[in-house]
Amino acid sequence: MSKTQPELPSTTWPSRETAAASRLFSPIQVGAFTARTRSWVPAMVPWRATEDGFVTPDVLDWYGRFADGLPGVLVVEATGIRDVPSGPLLRIGHDRFVPGLSDLVNTIHERSGGRTRSVIQILDFLRIRRRPEKDRFLREFLELTERHRDQLAALDPNLAEGGDATLRASLLSMERETLHTILTVREVEALEFGERERVSDTHLPHIEELPRVLPGLFADAAERAQVAGFDGVELHFAHAYTMSSFLSRTNTRTDGYGGSLEGRLRLPLEVLAAVRARVGDDYTIGCRLLGDEVIESGSRIDDAVFLSEGLAAAGMDFVSVSKGGKFDDAKQPKVGAAAYPYTGESGHECMPTVRIEGGPFGRNLPLSSSIRRALRDQGLPTPVVGAGGIGTFELAEQALQDGDCDLVGAARQSLADPDWWRKIEEGRGASVRRCIFTNYCEGLDQRHKQVTCQLWDRDFDEPDSGDSIAMSSDGKRRLLAPPESGS
Ligand SMILES: Cc1cc2nc3c(=O)[nH]c(=O)nc-3n(C[C@H](O)[C@H](O)[C@H](O)COP(=O)(O)O)c2cc1C
Ligand code: SF4
Repeated sequence: MSKTQPELPSTTWPSRETAAASRLFSPIQVGAFTARTRSWVPAMVPWRATEDGFVTPDVLDWYGRFADGLPGVLVVEATGIRDVPSGPLLRIGHDRFVPGLSDLVNTIHERSGGRTRSVIQILDFLRIRRRPEKDRFLREFLELTERHRDQLAALDPNLAEGGDATLRASLLSMERETLHTILTVREVEALEFGERERVSDTHLPHIEELPRVLPGLFADAAERAQVAGFDGVELHFAHAYTMSSFLSRTNTRTDGYGGSLEGRLRLPLEVLAAVRARVGDDYTIGCRLLGDEVIESGSRIDDAVFLSEGLAAAGMDFVSVSKGGKFDDAKQPKVGAAAYPYTGESGHECMPTVRIEGGPFGRNLPLSSSIRRALRDQGLPTPVVGAGGIGTFELAEQALQDGDCDLVGAARQSLADPDWWRKIEEGRGASVRRCIFTNYCEGLDQRHKQVTCQLWDRDFDEPDSGDSIAMSSDGKRRLLAPPESGS
């Protein structure tokens, strides 16, 4: 191991017999389907769809590779429910996407021999612009208002009668610090980070109407997922996206869809009801939500407990718990780039690395644990999925034994070694390629580059390596996890 790589805590892997007797490798009912084991691969965007959001051969290979490892449940990446351009993110906002998604389901089914259940995460997101050039922002994007005129006139009375061009020229000549005092908080954000819409921007008609539009869009998307053959859908109620923002303590809408906990929960419940009405009782609908937003004035675990109880009582079939990942505290992007929600404290809590104080290992289990306990206290048997820094059998099994969760999610560990679940099940845990939790993969995601793992490129000398190895478009990285040596 090179000097730059962190030491991982030592661990003991089970024999085949111990694995067979474990809770991790025992079945569980998740809504309408039975998962063969309690192993779960959470959603991960790999940036492999076409620019139009279609499934590609690379997408099939990516999920096929995860299915090789026979997880109980494999969640397909965040997939957009609208029929709008969104770059190489998968989309499910029109029937034309169904054949490709159906191929994806078949691939997972074939590669796992029918042993892995497939779920697709469906999401809506609001508009976020790239950080603009200062000149362009002040010349073109900034809408001049009386407020600007008054502020400028206070600095220089001659500007009171100036035309727009004079005012813009004056703004352009200012130091940033002074400029910030003239602009509103939202304008400063638009200048320094890129303009970002919020669910509370109800002066914008398309934001005001979200409660009327989203239940139908989610229901349409879920129906397509069902037609494509997925075993279930995961409603994306987490991280930086629309539904998470409705659930957030920062949601100040005054139309009955914000403010109080009941108000914030209203739209998610209406989405669930619309989806349920469309797909019927015999279909699994779950959600991913945040146990803690990790932002100032954001939702904490008490909110998450209340919201989870409400959703579970209304028939949500599973609750997958995540943490953070918000735009609110994202790092300032470079000019021309968009803010990335997995920077800042909330981002670091979402995908914790070995550099985080306290370490990443099982870091977010207290959140799933609190939610699970609260559900059980209410007599709700809804399965809860935990995730965050889980990369050993010991930790996974302990989490289940302790009642921290009902299914164990491992995203980056499954990326580092998609075969890891199968290796453990077969008593070959010692050969697991362990994730080192330094987030090389997340760095690629941030730049919207094809996601790969830094550990894959070390195995280039495996027996069957050669021209057949699929490489990333920059030609530098292996596109898929290497096969087990000798296989
Ligand atoms: C490359 C990458 C892409 C991700 N994409 C998604 C996503 O589409 N939806 C989601 O809910 N979480 C996404 N996540 C977060 C993971 O699902 C998971 O919650 C997080 O990595 C923490 O779990 P881990 O420690 O097991 O990796 C992504 C993570 C990574 C590394
Ligand atoms: S690049 Fe690989 S080893 Fe590094 S955090 Fe991602 S999955 Fe783990």
